[in-house]
Amino acid sequence: METAPTSLAIIAGARPNFMKVAPLMHALSADPAIKPILIHTGQHYDHNMSGQFFQDLGIAEPDYHLEVGSGSHAAQTAEIMKRLEPVLLESKPAGLIIVGDVNSTVAGALVAKKLGIDVIHIEAGLRSFDRTMPEEINRIVTDSISDLLLVTEESGRANLLREGVAESRIHLVGNLMIDTLRRHRDQALKSGVQARLGIEPGAAYGLVTLHRPANVDDPEQLGKILSALSEIAQELPLYWPMHPRTRSTVARLPLSERIHILEPLGYIEFLAMQAGSRVVLTDSGGIQEETTVLGVPCLTLRDNTERPVTIDAGTNRLAGTSRESILKAWAEHRANPKKGQEPPLWDGKAGERCHAVLRRHFVEGAAQG
Ligand code: UD1
Repeated sequence: METAPTSLAIIAGARPNFMKVAPLMHALSADPAIKPILIHTGQHYDHNMSGQFFQDLGIAEPDYHLEVGSGSHAAQTAEIMKRLEPVLLESKPAGLIIVGDVNSTVAGALVAKKLGIDVIHIEAGLRSFDRTMPEEINRIVTDSISDLLLVTEESGRANLLREGVAESRIHLVGNLMIDTLRRHRDQALKSGVQARLGIEPGAAYGLVTLHRPANVDDPEQLGKILSALSEIAQELPLYWPMHPRTRSTVARLPLSERIHILEPLGYIEFLAMQAGSRVVLTDSGGIQEETTVLGVPCLTLRDNTERPVTIDAGTNRLAGTSRESILKAWAEHRANPKKGQEPPLWDGKAGERCHAVLRRHFVEGAAQG
């Protein structure tokens, strides 16, 4: 007798989720025993924060779109929960897969678990140990109620074990975001984005991204960072594709004319800009990982990172968030640029490993049980 495929729902909400969901959708769609159901929460909704990524990464149209939009943390998280519950009740998946650490991640975990649906967290176990970061709260809550915890780096496993998670539920699978990077790198190198932006072939430049509330919401704090960036820009012109959250504060502050502000870029063009840059200055989590694999030095404008492998093995350096600390890190980078190595299992096959874990749990495990 033919058995129906096992339904697995996948949540995608915000920009950094899309590069993780793409390889997973490819791997799961190829298995006739699994039926993936893609749910977009609409946490990010601008074309250049969302639609462009679906296009660039060849992700199928979502089966459901919750269209929640922006709001305070409580309002956004609550709205996702309210709109997700009827979708899960209707589609009855065997499991809900959530990625990363955004509000869509924690909202999905809470709703599914209370409906008795197994929760699979991909990129589990990362810890900055900084509970003022909204993402750290999302990570801790999500991991504490997840059934399967798939980790990108060894620190994730160690953190979960220390928190009392059973070893049998933790799987080191590598990094889905790096699957996407490897798949699109050649295409990115031919994108022509530098020419489009008027950058001469081979010209040296640096790339900036900033969006963390602690860095960009307070004009005084952002002013300190801009003062350091303006000094760095005297040596190296900087290009800054700006997150919508950052724009209003920057508009009120003085800025060197060697810092070029851009609209947010799509995935392919941003990857091309990273690959071609001498240094990347960022407060993003994912970009610390991407620069490590591209071999491009990264200065992280934070005091901590939940991705320590990018420092221990990769090209990343913590630069702090004061003018002095950023300029000190810049000087150290100039004297001794990091080359770095690729972390274990960041080899483009994380999608296959995730698929194997999910298949064992939901398809083979269910058949035996
Ligand atoms: C969210 C994630 C963060 C992730 C980041 C990547 C949480 C807690 N934070 O932060 O971990 O690194 O996404 O971008 O989930 N906005 C738009 N258009 C959009 C999306 C946002 O204009 O498509 C503006 C809105 O004014 C909104 C603000 O950006 O209020 C912040 O968006 P939000 O989703 O709340 O958080 P991010 O700062 O993007």
